[in-house]
Amino acid sequence: MGYENLRYEVEGPVATIAIDRPKALNALDERTLDELERALEDMNAAPEVAGAILTGAGEKAFVAGADIRQLAEVRGADVARRLARRGQAVLAKLSASPRPVVACVNGYALGGGLELALACHFRYALAKAKLGLPEVSLGLIPGYGGTQRLMRLVGRGAASEMILTGDPVDGNEALRLGLVNQVFESKEAMLAAARKTLETIAGRGPLAVRLALEALERGSSLDLAGALDVEADLFGVALSSADGAEGTRAFLEKRKPEFTGS
Ligand code: CAA
Repeated sequence: MGYENLRYEVEGPVATIAIDRPKALNALDERTLDELERALEDMNAAPEVAGAILTGAGEKAFVAGADIRQLAEVRGADVARRLARRGQAVLAKLSASPRPVVACVNGYALGGGLELALACHFRYALAKAKLGLPEVSLGLIPGYGGTQRLMRLVGRGAASEMILTGDPVDGNEALRLGLVNQVFESKEAMLAAARKTLETIAGRGPLAVRLALEALERGSSLDLAGALDVEADLFGVALSSADGAEGTRAFLEKRKPEFTGS
């Protein structure tokens, strides 16, 4: 089945998912969320793919939010709650993906768009990008995880200011807040850097990468003691795996490891 509102491409070990709905600045309507979910499934099912870049098609927007036209048609708190739950569920799949997804924020990342970037494993941005949660200016609050993921990433103070004013920050301010890892002047340079990072990850032990992602994901919603239990369990899996044995033996034998992902 093809895609209408996004483009999915694979080159070498890197998949690129580009949200592509120019008439609404790549806003997430129901269909786009469905397609995003499917693209993540495709990415995780492709044996040659080590991770994905998630970006917005075009020059102007990453994703300008949930689709406000669809939101305006919703009647009643139950329907609205289900709509939030659906977006949260797709973004939870992204956050729990066993392969890393890097957001390349190439323009407006507002509301559901910033929430989408926040669900990725880490973020790069253009200096000119605008990242924000403007929901309060629509009389709403974020509904796709923004209040929680932004707070966990940048702390409650910075998150409160962004959420309560609704004002966006640019790429450099996002870097200062720890919201993005690197800032670029051109989309081309940003995508090339993200590809290089994912290629580096593709060269590491595939099982170890998956276990590290799992430790980060599961630990992020636990207290420290519980999270350390998770880490110890997964460390046990890693060290007793074929890749763990190969990696440590290769180090001692001063050669490159040959990982099999098991
Ligand atoms: N949903 C639906 N359509 C959108 C959209 C959105 N989130 N954002 C932009 N569009 C549409 C506009 O309606 C416009 O369509 P028409 O040409 O048919 O009028 C088109 O995209 C181009 O947008 P603008 O003309 O507004 O472009 P601009 O350059 O003047 O402004 C912008 C750009 C500042 C990003 C502005 O479009 C904007 O403020 N968009 C809305 C951002 C927003 O509030 N996002 C949060 C949504 S709520 C949410 O996400 C809830 C949640 O947490 C789940």
